[in-house]
Amino acid sequence: MAPKFFVGGNWKCNGTTEEVKKIVTTLNEAEVPSEDIVEVVVSPPFVFLPLVKGLLRSDFQVAAQNCWVRRGGAFTGEISAEMLLNLSIPWVILGHSERRSLLAESNDFVADKVEHALSQGLKVIACIGETLEQRESGSTMSVVACQTKAIAEKIEHWENVVLAYEPVWAIGTGKVATPAQAQEVHSELRKWLRDNVGPEVAATTRIIYGGSVNGANCNELAAQPDVDGFLVGGASLKPEFVDIIKSATEKQR
Ligand code: 13P
Repeated sequence: MAPKFFVGGNWKCNGTTEEVKKIVTTLNEAEVPSEDIVEVVVSPPFVFLPLVKGLLRSDFQVAAQNCWVRRGGAFTGEISAEMLLNLSIPWVILGHSERRSLLAESNDFVADKVEHALSQGLKVIACIGETLEQRESGSTMSVVACQTKAIAEKIEHWENVVLAYEPVWAIGTGKVATPAQAQEVHSELRKWLRDNVGPEVAATTRIIYGGSVNGANCNELAAQPDVDGFLVGGASLKPEFVDIIKSATEKQR
């Protein structure tokens, strides 16, 4: 059986209290496929997590956009996995390319964060993806395999991991990967998981696509056999996020 479709909305560093309330109202009023068909997780900035958690419909979940690599303590400015759990935040996004590039988060550091978050009971959306330069030099697969390997070496259980393939050149650029490009990398990633972790993990781990997904391109991408959902940036702040959630029905065809 195909894994359940997953749609994540990464709000990044956007929003005021009023804007956040408006987005949540739109989501709460939306008619979407049932929880059996699609899992929806939205990720507001830390400061809005309790507000969103309190207002959001109960069939949608929330995620933090990052968390610290170890237990809390003397780490000014950081938020620990334990704090997220204390607020009943079930998910966290880790290894987003914006943090990998701007804050120099290495593969090992991201993997350590994934390991710690899982060990504390969080579910993790782990992001990987190649730059334009890496794609053009033909190293896409070796880059994403290396990023995945760093994580695979540190964790044993994959039930609480969603792998988000987000090509850096497609993020926030309006340049979406073609369905064929997304399918190619997703199927290679699944093969990598099969060969290096195991057939069960390969069959059940959701591999979702991120990078300029919108209401107009989501259906064709969702129809690809190895695309198990999306991680959406810009469009997750707009009403068209509802259309992206509905693209889960492509898998029912
Ligand atoms: P965009 O959808 O704005 O390209 O961002 C994708 C992303 O980075 C999601 O994590």
